[in-house]
Order: sequence, then C-alpha cells, then structure tokens
Amino acid sequence: MFDIFALFCLCWCCQIGVFGAETNEIQSVSVMEGDSVTLKTNVTELHGDDDITWKYGAEKSLIVKISNEKQNFSTYDVPDERFRDRLKVDHQTGSLTITNTTTKHAGVYEQQIRRAKLSSKTFSVSVYAQLPVPVITSNSSQCSSSSSQQNCSLLCSVVNVGHVTLSWYKGNSLLSSISVSDLSISLSLPLEVEYQDKNSYSCVINNPISNQTTHLDITQLCSNQT
Ligand SMILES: *[C@@H]1O[C@H](CO)[C@@H](O)[C@H](O)[C@H]1NC(C)=O
Ligand SMILES: *[C@@H]1O[C@H](CO)[C@@H](O)[C@H](O)[C@H]1NC(C)=O
Ligand SMILES: *[C@@H]1O[C@H](CO)[C@@H](O)[C@H](O)[C@H]1NC(C)=O
Ligand SMILES: *[C@@H]1O[C@H](CO)[C@@H](O)[C@H](O)[C@H]1NC(C)=O
Ligand SMILES: *[C@@H]1O[C@H](CO)[C@@H](O)[C@H](O)[C@H]1NC(C)=O
Ligand SMILES: *[C@@H]1O[C@H](CO)[C@@H](O)[C@H](O)[C@H]1NC(C)=O
Repeated sequence: MFDIFALFCLCWCCQIGVFGAETNEIQSVSVMEGDSVTLKTNVTELHGDDDITWKYGAEKSLIVKISNEKQNFSTYDVPDERFRDRLKVDHQTGSLTITNTTTKHAGVYEQQIRRAKLSSKTFSVSVYAQLPVPVITSNSSQCSSSSSQQNCSLLCSVVNVGHVTLSWYKGNSLLSSISVSDLSISLSLPLEVEYQDKNSYSCVINNPISNQTTHLDITQLCSNQT
C-alpha cells in the first residue's frame, strides 16, 4: 500500500517537474558521423531584443550567444576545441547547425530563448559511427569434402564497432543476431549452411539509423573442396 502511494507521489512529482513554470522538453536527435545536424528554435524570425543562448554538455558550456538587438551572433568553443569551425548559426531563426559531426559531439544541447518570457528546450544528440561492411569468411578446415561434411562453417565479422547489431538473414527471415553496446570491439557470428543450399543468405550490421549488408556467395567461399 505504501509502495503504491510512493509510486503515485513519484509520478506526480515528475509531472510537476516536466510541466512546471518553465517549458523544458527533451528532443532526441540522431545523426551519422560526418553529417550535419540542425537543432531548431521555434522562432520564424528574430525580432526586437530577442536573446538566444545555446549551451552544451553537463557543464552547460556556452557555445552560442545571440543578441538580435546588437546583431551579435557569437559562437564559442569548449577547451578541447571540438566545435572548431563546426558551429553555424541561422541569423533569421537562431537555429544551430553542427557540421561534420564526430562522436565527440554527442550529448545534451540546451537552447534558451528570451522573448516576452524565458523558454528553454533541450536536445539530446546521438552521433552514430559509419558502419563497416561485414566480412564473411569460411572455416576452410570445415569446407573439405574429404570428410563426409555436407556443410560449410561460416563466420561473419566486423571490427571496431559499438552500439550495433550483427545478424544473419536467410532471405528476409532473421536466423541469429548478436548485439553490443560497448565501443570499439570486434564481433563475429557463425553460420552453418549446406553446400547445396540455394537460399540467399546475408549478413547485416545495423545501428538505429543505418545498416550495411554483405550477401553470401557460397560457391565462392566454399569452393575449395577437391
Ligand atoms: C558580441 O558579443 C561579445 C560578448 O558577448 C563581444 O565580445 C563581441 O565583441 C560582440 N561583437 C560585436 C560585433 O558586437
Ligand atoms: C571532418 O572532420 C574530420 C576530423 O574529424 C576531418 O578530418 C575532415 O577533414 C572534416 N571534413 C570536412 C569536410 O570538414
Ligand atoms: C515556442 O513558442 C511559444 C509561443 O510562440 C512559446 O510559448 C514557447 O515557450 C516556445 N517554446 C520553446 C521551447 O522555445
Ligand atoms: C574451424 O572448425 C573447427 C571444427 O569445428 C574448429 O575447431 C576451429 O576452431 C574452426 N576454426 C575457425 C577459424 O573458426
Ligand atoms: C548441417 O547444417 C544444418 C543446418 O544448415 C544442420 O541442421 C545439420 O545438422 C548440419 N550437419 C552437420 C553434419 O553438421
Ligand atoms: C537497411 O536500411 C534501409 C534504408 O537505408 C532499410 O530500407 C532496410 O530495411 C534496412 N535493412 C535492415 C535489415 O535493417
């Protein structure tokens, strides 16, 4: 009984936090490494003495300060210079574009607009690395016909990946998969197929925003039986 009350109170308190005096929604944004990402304001045109600031990270480092009245659109970097030549501010809307993103630009960006009143909005930016093409190899010792093996042992591999899933498909159906959340590790996933199998197999690596596919050519990979 007490637990239910506590849960109720917790939810109620959260609601107050979210819908309290100041608007503060969090918007998630995903971008592929190397691409640009634009974080928008809801302003169609700056006017009067509108002020806008953009802050980055847990430290809330000031990276953009706009004073429309002074026509001053200043950008600032953080000590490790990760934003060097990468910040573009739209002079009409105050929107912020980060060009040529790297995984270092992931994180929280806070926008604060001072018009009639102060309003703020938070963006949570995820930057996904470019995916390598999966490599399919055969275990040649298993590919010899000297044993009465009818099967070929295959391995699909990728190196230096993080936050991805690696999967084997037979046609459109998923056979197996393995996921990793760490950064920069190597992954491999085995598959056993019969030489005579005429189905199409593929190995796919994907993250939430992209994928890469390698199709299995069984005659080429498992042809070394004499
Ligand atoms: C813009 O503002 C910054 C400080 O907020 C100041 O250092 C800079 O000189 C100003 N630039 C112009 C063109 O007024
Ligand atoms: C993008 O950033 C990388 C370093 O992270 C740099 O090597 C490359 O030249 C940049 N590309 C462009 C188009 O600025
Ligand atoms: C968006 O605009 C409305 C009214 O124009 C304002 O009340 C609100 O606070 C703004 N929200 C953000 C996050 O800027
Ligand atoms: C090849 O298969 C054999 C027998 O299953 C196994 O002992 C060996 O470790 C495999 N080699 C590779 C490179 O996967
Ligand atoms: C050959 O692979 C099939 C699955 O493709 C499996 O059902 C079968 O048991 C395997 N045979 C041997 C001898 O490993
Ligand atoms: C790979 O991405 C394309 C779009 O780029 C999508 O149509 C397709 O469904 C994705 N495939 C997988 C297996 O996630």
